[in-house]
Amino acid sequence: MRKKLIAGNWKSNGSLELNKALLEGIVGAKALGSVDVVVCPPFPYLQSVGNVISGSMVELGAQNCSATEEGAYTGEVSARMCADIKCSWVIVGHSERRALYAENDEIIARKVKRVVDSGLTPILCVGETLEERESGQAEEVTLKQLDAVFLSVQPHESWVVAYEPVWAIGTGKTASPDDAQSMHKALRNNIRKHFPQIADKIRILYGGSVKSSNAKELFSMPDVDGALVGGASLVSEEFVSIIEAAVE
Ligand code: 13P
Repeated sequence: MRKKLIAGNWKSNGSLELNKALLEGIVGAKALGSVDVVVCPPFPYLQSVGNVISGSMVELGAQNCSATEEGAYTGEVSARMCADIKCSWVIVGHSERRALYAENDEIIARKVKRVVDSGLTPILCVGETLEERESGQAEEVTLKQLDAVFLSVQPHESWVVAYEPVWAIGTGKTASPDDAQSMHKALRNNIRKHFPQIADKIRILYGGSVKSSNAKELFSMPDVDGALVGGASLVSEEFVSIIEAAVE
């Protein structure tokens, strides 16, 4: 059975003071242990957040990394640097990176390679826009994003895929549990085609307006293995309630 995973993507939010208050509730959550929990703060806070969660069962993730190694790349943060400060996870291919920073499938595959080569685990985000869904292309687009990475970097069962329909991110419109299940199943079946030995082990998270009020229903779907949470991960009680909703 796949253990549920709840990851908080803080996006470009936080401050030393806010982070401390937010983490106090999370490290004390009773469900830690029965559910895997990852927090992904902005780069400048990774190390201090790492210090606060050290010794707890909460793990550390970065929201992005460079497609390049260390060197003359002003402003870039390499995956190896993230590993150096005890990150375990890196979110790659978030739709905000794809849409606002022109990251295409090729760049995303290169980033995933860096993540894996640095001993970290990727959380690969995929998902369609509203226009793509309305024109009936949701599955095709999402599976293509998955294949672009899985067929260029040998995947491992520890990898995590996050299905995040763009129209559900930050909008308050969550995919229905049935729609989420249907896409998660399509993703898993697609993985099975090429990598049958890992298909049932890889965790597929749902992301897009997950809250404590809709989490339980989403997590009851057989192929929904947890959530990648944005806005609700910035409110300690909300995030802890989502973690609790994931307890089997
Ligand atoms: P929201 O939970 O704010 O919709 O964001 C989802 C997301 O983008 C997580 O990566």
